[in-house]
Amino acid sequence: MLVSGRFVAGAVKQDNGLSASRPGSRGRMLLAGLVALLLLSLPRVMLAKDADCLSCHSDKTMQDASGKNVGVDAPLFHSSVHGSLGCSDCHSDVHDYPHPEHPAAVQCVTCHADESKAIAGSIHAKASTHPCTSCHGNAHEIFPKGDPRSAVYPLNIPKTCGTCHGNRALAQKYGLENVYSVYMDSIHGYAVSKEGLLVAANCMSCHGSHNILSHKDPRSPTNKANIAATCGSCHGGVKAQYMSGVHGKQMASGNMKAPVCTDCHTAHAILEPTLASFRMQSTPICGSCHKEQMATYRDTFHSQLGLLGGYVQTARCWDCHGAHEVLPASDPRSPVAKANLIKTCGKCHADANASFVEYQPHANPRNRSLNPELYYIRLFMNLLLWSVLGFFALHTLLWFIRSKREQEKNGSTGEAKHD
Ligand code: HEC
Ligand code: HEC
Ligand code: HEC
Ligand code: HEC
Ligand code: HEC
Ligand code: HEC
Ligand code: HEC
Ligand code: HEC
Ligand code: HEC
Ligand code: HEC
Ligand code: HEC
Repeated sequence: MLVSGRFVAGAVKQDNGLSASRPGSRGRMLLAGLVALLLLSLPRVMLAKDADCLSCHSDKTMQDASGKNVGVDAPLFHSSVHGSLGCSDCHSDVHDYPHPEHPAAVQCVTCHADESKAIAGSIHAKASTHPCTSCHGNAHEIFPKGDPRSAVYPLNIPKTCGTCHGNRALAQKYGLENVYSVYMDSIHGYAVSKEGLLVAANCMSCHGSHNILSHKDPRSPTNKANIAATCGSCHGGVKAQYMSGVHGKQMASGNMKAPVCTDCHTAHAILEPTLASFRMQSTPICGSCHKEQMATYRDTFHSQLGLLGGYVQTARCWDCHGAHEVLPASDPRSPVAKANLIKTCGKCHADANASFVEYQPHANPRNRSLNPELYYIRLFMNLLLWSVLGFFALHTLLWFIRSKREQEKNGSTGEAKHD
């Protein structure tokens, strides 16, 4: 059915001169006959020329019977990466007019086998009606990935993925987090969207493009075992520090209980670590695994200060231990090794000296071998407390028994006696 009403199939054919023939000499007649024969044997090819399809479809307001837009922006198509292709290179079942009302879906795989294979094996294999245009946008307006008009230009990627991953209903349906808005508020999202920083992490930097897998898949760059390498592809210096610390070493040796970048920084809500909001919430980050040190830290002045009114300047775990090259206290390179304490505490306590650093940041009165004095003081105080309590309990009991006996002796109630 023709909605635009400007064209009929016959007119298209005449424009192409397929049925035209001219009189002339026999030779000319022969030649013309041969040409006509040739042309008539190739009418489908002739019709498949862009101009032929566009003679109808370049009307951008053109609609099909159901009201769906079937117009093509011809200048945009010709400037696109596929601009030199013929319409039928993709719409391989449309060669003529009238053509099928609903031609077969275009198979990008015929020319892009690698990408198609990668998508087929990815989490997105069944994510949408057209596996390719869901990210690349309108098939007639695809630009090279380095062109700012491309849907997969680095700065456009978050928005492209966000069309689905910023969608509440989809997040609920698949039980996924709605990561888009969280990411946009992060340092990376800010750098991409506000600073236009091409080298900042967009979704693809961490997830890949066509071969995106669940983070549970060991091959995924977002799998715990691969996170240091993924973040480290940009943060090379930090990765090197992390790998030479105890956490990185434990990870490398397969201890999945050790933290990776995202355990401390999160994946999508990454903040500038100097921000108050990061410093204020980060003690529990180390403390979630080091419960004992967390508990003892909680008892100290540094933590109490941090809790009272959210004082940002106080010592957080990493102010003493470092954040990435975290080492055991027994390692002479550790900032909490005895020999380094004056320097470490001195970052904030300008007058720190040998006696000042005697102060124990993890004083634990319950541990005799680590803190003998505190242990015995606590033991003594507890004994004192319990013996006093015990004395009074016994005293009260004896008193009670005695008064009962007296009551029995007098043969009357306590109240009566008082009266
Ligand atoms: C004479 C005008 C005309 C020509 C020439 C023409 N088409 Fe169409 N085309 C239409 C109309 C009208 C529709 C709307 C569908 C319908 O209702 O039949 C349409 C629809 C389509 C659709 C969409 C069908 C759908 O699923 O919604 C495709 C794809 C298409 N044409 C491709 C082509 C290609 C490729 C060529 C060139 C080989 C071409 N057309 C030539 C008129 C034309
Ligand atoms: C790179 C491949 C490619 C080329 C080249 C191409 N198309 Fe398409 N076209 C598609 C895809 C993909 C769709 C979406 C529907 C589908 O999956 O089949 C589409 C859809 C259409 C539609 C339906 C309306 C729409 O936007 O969904 C029309 C009409 C159409 N194409 C016409 C043309 C015409 C005319 C040309 C030549 C100027 C052309 N196409 C060239 C891939 C292509
Ligand atoms: C989940 C989103 C997504 C889907 C779905 C998707 N792509 Fe891509 N595609 C991308 C991104 C992102 C890039 C940019 C890659 C880069 O910069 O290295 C890209 C780049 C490309 C490139 C350029 C490759 C290069 O290295 O130059 C081609 C070709 C391509 N895609 C084809 C396809 C085809 C074909 C399909 C369907 C089978 C498809 N894409 C589906 C996101 C997607
Ligand atoms: C008939 C073959 C053919 C079909 C079908 C085809 N393409 Fe292409 N595509 C090409 C060619 C040729 C290029 C240009 C390659 C180049 O310049 O290196 C290209 C380039 C691309 C690029 C840009 C790569 C870059 O440099 O960033 C993307 C993205 C892409 N195609 C996606 C698609 C999608 C999506 C489909 C299906 C809707 C599709 N192609 C269908 C032939 C095809
Ligand atoms: C800095 C790296 C990084 C960036 C940038 C990033 N992600 Fe992630 N993403 C991850 C990691 C790592 C995981 C694995 C789960 C986790 O650690 O929270 C993940 C998990 C996911 C999940 C699965 C969540 C779930 O509930 O299982 C989705 C969906 C997702 N990312 C989409 C996106 C989208 C969309 C963007 C861009 C807007 C994006 N990611 C940007 C690293 C990143
Ligand atoms: C057409 C909508 C759509 C687009 C566009 C899209 N996704 Fe998805 N994505 C989904 C759906 C639906 C799922 C859930 C699939 C499932 O669980 O079967 C999903 C799942 C994911 C997961 C989950 C993996 C996990 O850990 O469980 C990640 C990561 C992801 N997408 C990243 C991206 C990135 C990055 C982009 C952009 C390059 C993107 N998606 C674009 C629809 C989309
Ligand atoms: C594609 C490169 C790239 C990847 C991959 C990447 N980042 Fe970043 N990241 C950047 C850039 C660039 C900045 C600086 C942004 C700015 O300053 O505006 C940054 C900033 C940061 C900051 C803030 C630094 C500061 O001094 O304020 C943290 C923390 C961070 N990234 C952590 C991570 C983590 C964790 C991962 C992995 C889950 C990761 N990044 C993956 C490029 C990347
Ligand atoms: C054990 C928790 C933890 C782990 C694991 C961790 N970080 Fe950090 N990171 C921090 C803390 C805490 C800070 C703040 C340091 C400060 O303010 O002195 C920080 C700071 C940063 C910064 C800002 C620049 C700097 O050096 O201060 C970047 C970038 C960064 N981390 C990236 C990463 C990357 C990439 C990884 C993985 C290779 C990683 N982090 C692993 C806790 C961690
Ligand atoms: C995801 C859990 C986890 C997080 C988060 C974590 N750690 Fe660890 N940490 C470990 C594991 C596992 C080890 C190595 C096993 C062990 O010896 O306890 C370790 C070892 C250490 C050691 C050396 C202890 C020793 O006995 O050798 C120090 C010091 C340390 N972590 C400090 C920190 C600090 C400071 C932070 C926060 C910036 C932090 N950790 C965050 C799990 C974690
Ligand atoms: C004011 C500085 C300071 C702060 C803040 C601090 N620590 Fe410590 N930490 C030390 C010192 C000094 C030692 C070594 C002496 C000791 O064990 O008491 C130590 C020891 C440790 C050890 C044992 C290391 C080993 O090799 O045995 C772990 C684990 C640890 N701290 C974790 C944490 C965590 C987690 C936090 C935050 C909740 C934290 N620390 C806060 C200074 C600090
Ligand atoms: C990140 C900065 C920072 C670091 C590092 C730090 N402190 Fe503190 N500390 C503070 C702040 C802030 C206060 C509260 C203000 C004050 O009294 O100076 C405080 C208070 C104290 C107090 C109680 C008040 C006082 O001054 O007597 C002691 C004791 C103390 N720190 C010991 C230490 C020791 C020992 C170390 C090294 C193992 C250390 N601190 C490392 C910031 C820090």
